[in-house]
Amino acid sequence: MITNKQILITGATSGIGLSLCEYLLENNCKVIAVGRNEDKIKNLKSDNFTFVKLDLNEFSEYSKIFDEALNGEKLDGFVHCAGMEETLPITLYTPEKIQNIFNINVFSGIELLRFFSKKKYSNDGSSVVFISSVMGELGQPGKVGYCATKSAILGLVKASALELAKRKFRVNAISPGVVNTPMTQKLFSQIDQDNIQRIKNMHPLDIGEVEDVIPLLAFLLSNNSRWITGQNIKIDGGYSIQ
Ligand SMILES: NC(=O)c1ccc[n+]([C@@H]2O[C@H](COP(=O)([O-])OP(=O)(O)OC[C@H]3O[C@@H](n4cnc5c(N)ncnc54)[C@H](OP(=O)(O)O)[C@@H]3O)[C@@H](O)[C@H]2O)c1
Repeated sequence: MITNKQILITGATSGIGLSLCEYLLENNCKVIAVGRNEDKIKNLKSDNFTFVKLDLNEFSEYSKIFDEALNGEKLDGFVHCAGMEETLPITLYTPEKIQNIFNINVFSGIELLRFFSKKKYSNDGSSVVFISSVMGELGQPGKVGYCATKSAILGLVKASALELAKRKFRVNAISPGVVNTPMTQKLFSQIDQDNIQRIKNMHPLDIGEVEDVIPLLAFLLSNNSRWITGQNIKIDGGYSIQ
């Protein structure tokens, strides 16, 4: 399905991003992985794997990825898996807090796409995937920041898909329901069993595992998706059809 591509992945140290790195390396792709904590992925050893230690709040450091880690080669894909989730009543949402969640979930992705879209860093026909969420279209109390960022992704995907079509790029979003990752485990550790069960019951096919999401990402990164762009593909065990 996908092989011999060079892919840039943020959020590579955990959850969906980490699993995607493993999948791509198993399929002879080269991976440039961005993350803050190298210890979390010290088991990932491959000549095809390059780790760039970077806090995505440090926008001025992004050239390290493209001018140093890439080493003159070009990318074929970019997946923005990095993200933060928080539950906060609107009364506590200061401009700084909103800025913080937008920095990671949205602005870092746009800035990386700005670099990525330069001809010297990417091949024509490249594929870009942003991870939105079912929360990009559905609301939930306490999720003003998270929902706003995930909706913003849907807009930027459509606009950039049109703008970058001249280079035959595809730019798409996927919108998962709840997936069993460290992000979800943290959420579940903060709520009681009844609420965990309520969240599970909202997914007709139960909550997902990372292995449920990777095939869709692999498809979107592969040439098989060459006529799909500007879309938001839901992968949520039926959560959003109710
Ligand atoms: N899990 C779900 O149920 C679910 C559902 C819908 C959408 N999503 C979305 O899917 C994406 C991946 O989620 P996940 O569940 O795999 O989450 P996760 O396990 O918590 O991983 C999040 C990743 O984002 C990175 N990150 C966060 N802040 C960063 C920063 N300032 N600089 C650099 N990297 C940073 C983390 O790096 P560190 O290791 O350094 O913290 C980590 O690698 C997110 O965009 C999330 O919103 C998840």
